[in-house]
Amino acid sequence: MTIEQLPSAGSPRGLVGLVDHDVRVDPFPVIGWDALVWVVGNATQTAHFLQSALGMTLEAYSGPETGNRDHKAFVLRGGAARFVVRGAVDPGSALVAHHDRHGDGVVDIALEVAELDRCVEWARAHGATILVEPHDESDEFGTVRLAALATYGETRHTLVDRSRYDGPYLPGYVARGSGYEPRAGRPARLFQAIDHVVGNVELGMMDRWVDFYHRVMGFTNMAEFVGDDIATEYSALMSKVVANGNQRVKFPLNEPAVGKKRSQIDEYLDFYRGPGVQHIALATGDILNSVDALRREGVEFLDTPDAYYSDPELRARIGHVRVPVEELRRRGILVDRDEDGYLLQIFTKPVGDRPTVFFELIERHGSSGFGKGNFKALFQAIEREQDARGNL
Ligand SMILES: [Fe+2]
Repeated sequence: MTIEQLPSAGSPRGLVGLVDHDVRVDPFPVIGWDALVWVVGNATQTAHFLQSALGMTLEAYSGPETGNRDHKAFVLRGGAARFVVRGAVDPGSALVAHHDRHGDGVVDIALEVAELDRCVEWARAHGATILVEPHDESDEFGTVRLAALATYGETRHTLVDRSRYDGPYLPGYVARGSGYEPRAGRPARLFQAIDHVVGNVELGMMDRWVDFYHRVMGFTNMAEFVGDDIATEYSALMSKVVANGNQRVKFPLNEPAVGKKRSQIDEYLDFYRGPGVQHIALATGDILNSVDALRREGVEFLDTPDAYYSDPELRARIGHVRVPVEELRRRGILVDRDEDGYLLQIFTKPVGDRPTVFFELIERHGSSGFGKGNFKALFQAIEREQDARGNL
């Protein structure tokens, strides 16, 4: 296959690496991401950040003005991705205790499914904890059917069937825009879709959660990175990736491995007080423009060592990519290649106050990998940051 024949980031299939899949034989037919629901300390300001920095659009809202006296929730969209950010209004809200423990983070990786009741029965029969039983919620826009399963830590998967609903998000939410106007010349979108969502779990628990996604949700292994693949001199981690049938929903799962010093996964587990979502990878068709636009808004990225680009092995490893390596070096964008193609990727610094959740931008050109070849270079960069915080 030549570079020209590779599925490119310009096509919906190539963008997030979809494969053919027959949902009729799927015990748990996942259609795709429904929303990533966050609990944050200040949803009003996070909603502003997601518009100004990440280029998302405010679409819906729930809060005291709509009869929800407990919290404010803002619904934002960027391409196909939907984020919901929730912050307590009532000092007695359960969200206060959650935020006190975990800080800003993703509490719910909500998935759109076909045949929701069949999914829940399959999950129950295979050992899942059902947090919310299947039920209907309705308003003037129709009816949604919802349920929720527990996953790692205090994270959940809400399952959503919105085939009979055409409201702005869910019953209880009202359509809402904002007066925010993007800077002149900014690309219309800084990303098009969610590519993958990574979970950090405790030492020894990765295989348990891989098995959970196999057993409970019918996911399969995509790739496996173990031990030395992603070890540096000081810290290490293990990672395995599970995905749904068409590979739209991809969950890498990390656990710490023993190194000379504390793993970045240990640091996350300490500061999030347990397992949780480590990073959200956002697919873009033009990572150069996206990174430039994010930097103009003050988003900070991990530094990539200059040696990464001057290393003759890098050039031999990555071969021909669509842009000169100099353009990648200027922005700190990483490159990785496997037998199917290549990908470009870059990681932000943590977006909250705690060293926990962060974003990745990824531009795929045929590769369905996760940047295995970059892990070492990346972790060395992360460790410099960790060292600067006094946590290494
Ligand atoms: Fe990633």
